[in-house]
Amino acid sequence: MDLFDKCSAFTLADEVKAKGVYPYFRPIQANEGPVVRMEGRDVIMAGSNNYLGLTAHPKVKEAAQKAVEKYGTGCSGSRYLTGTLDLHVELEARLAKFIGSEDCLLYSTGYQTAQGIIPTLVQRGDYVVSDKDNHACIVAGNMMAVGMTADMVRYKHNDMKHLEAVVSKLPLDAAKLIVSDGVFSTSGEIVDLPELARVAKKYNARILVDDAHATGVIGKGGRGTASHFNLEKEVDLTMGTFSKTFASLGGFVCGKRSVINYLKHHAPALIFSASPTPASVAAALAALNILEAEPERIARLHNNAMKMREGFRSMGFRIIDGHESAIVPVIIGDTDKTLIFWRELYDAGVFVNAFVRPGVPPGMEMLRTSYMATHEDKHLDKILEIFEVIAKKLGVIN
Ligand SMILES: Cc1ncc(COP(=O)(O)O)c(C=O)c1O
Repeated sequence: MDLFDKCSAFTLADEVKAKGVYPYFRPIQANEGPVVRMEGRDVIMAGSNNYLGLTAHPKVKEAAQKAVEKYGTGCSGSRYLTGTLDLHVELEARLAKFIGSEDCLLYSTGYQTAQGIIPTLVQRGDYVVSDKDNHACIVAGNMMAVGMTADMVRYKHNDMKHLEAVVSKLPLDAAKLIVSDGVFSTSGEIVDLPELARVAKKYNARILVDDAHATGVIGKGGRGTASHFNLEKEVDLTMGTFSKTFASLGGFVCGKRSVINYLKHHAPALIFSASPTPASVAAALAALNILEAEPERIARLHNNAMKMREGFRSMGFRIIDGHESAIVPVIIGDTDKTLIFWRELYDAGVFVNAFVRPGVPPGMEMLRTSYMATHEDKHLDKILEIFEVIAKKLGVIN
């Protein structure tokens, strides 16, 4: 048996490619936000996490360009050693203020943030308690914690009765961290934070919320899940990413000064990885400025997502209702049909994300659509029109 046998035996992607319905790794040749160029033609983008449409904003681009001029293209070191710029410190202070926490720490990606926080805090004798549908970076962090002999328990997705059943069995005096996506990345559902916080308080657990899809989308002025529920004081740690609303790349965690200071000096994902590039940090700062100055962008995003929810529902599609989130999954319920639907949409000029097994449970194969503040009615109407034609042809709706 050779280590690489499994690689040569892996033929599924090639089989799907041969059928012409492979939706992944499709190169984008130019990107204006709602419309992108792919294979030499314009395609409406309805699968991006560029929620406020800021990747193409002149001020965001200019900030990135100026940062390259001033600091160069990379930091060539970790935050711990030679990789801290005044820009990193400024963005941390601004985010702490924005989220309403004592302090903040940047990581190089959102993935690294969760993977960095969880095993650093949850150690031998401690418990991490995790929603079954949490993002892969939380799962990675949990597995690392388990590898370091912490314990992990999972509860049914967003099921707070099950959370309580699980947590109540753990020793009351053991240290515990309950972790959940704020807005779940696949379904767009918002966590039942009031109940989660009640359980956490009752059983002496700390809370980490991953607001990757919530910052800039829900809560007062886009301040995320805790703000959405007026539970800012109950959430101990809020993490996020710059790869969505913030139109950049990087991650952050906000919390109490002592906790951030501990992470700063103990998290291998921070200490042994180069810091976010000057352009990434400057772009995220510029995006934060726009988010604070132009809250009407969030209202537009909500209107757009709501219009699409209503549009899909009225045509008879099965969707998952994420309420104020920007994610609208359309359930197709079959792998082949989802991939064929995806291809027909792409050919007709609309790009969405096809989620099939094992990424989703059987029967939940879906076209995950997501929206931007910069989508105009003409884009959204076109998406609905094209969905309807294809769905009727494929027998997804009548
Ligand atoms: C819930 C959630 N957390 C974290 C991440 C990772 O963020 P990043 O792209 O910055 O690594 C994502 C990205 O898909 C996400 O959806």
